[in-house]
Amino acid sequence: MKSPLAATLSLLAGLAIMAGSGQLLADPIASSAKPLALRSIMKDLGKNAQAITEGISHEDWPQVEKAALLIADHPQPPLSEKMRIMSFAGTRIGKFKSYDGETHDAARTVAKAAKAGEGEGVILAFQKLQTACHNCHREFRKPLIEHFYEGR
Ligand code: HEC
Repeated sequence: MKSPLAATLSLLAGLAIMAGSGQLLADPIASSAKPLALRSIMKDLGKNAQAITEGISHEDWPQVEKAALLIADHPQPPLSEKMRIMSFAGTRIGKFKSYDGETHDAARTVAKAAKAGEGEGVILAFQKLQTACHNCHREFRKPLIEHFYEGR
């Protein structure tokens, strides 16, 4: 029979191997090297938010409207990924969804103001939009990256 110390050591070694291969805490499917669709959706949101800032500087309201509508109607991750995100967020999924909802609403308001050529309205609504982006990032970005990308 193993001594209690040896048993503890082999248990620890086993745990270290599991943690190293990301099986302890991470999403089990996360070991694939492929980034989430969410990441490329986010990259596009970032580009469109930049297009809005640029459009505001040039008072190019059609450009602002177009970029805002692309944010409002951004594509969604495939269902399987949504389920992974839901299981990651657990009981906080309601908050995640409500930040997404705020983003869509604010983007629509930006588009509406841009269509009417109301610069101040655009800027006010754009501030709300960025606040919605930021709120979600502040709360979910780091834990999501740790969960899906750093547990390998
Ligand atoms: C509901 C939550 C949520 C909202 C709302 C949200 N984001 Fe994100 N965003 C995330 C998460 C989570 C990540 C980290 C994703 C990753 O690294 O795979 C992220 C990452 C990003 C990135 C970095 C992507 C990269 O290259 O790694 C950009 C840029 C970005 N978001 C822009 C935006 C903009 C602009 C908005 C608002 C118009 C927005 N996001 C709204 C959750 C959100």
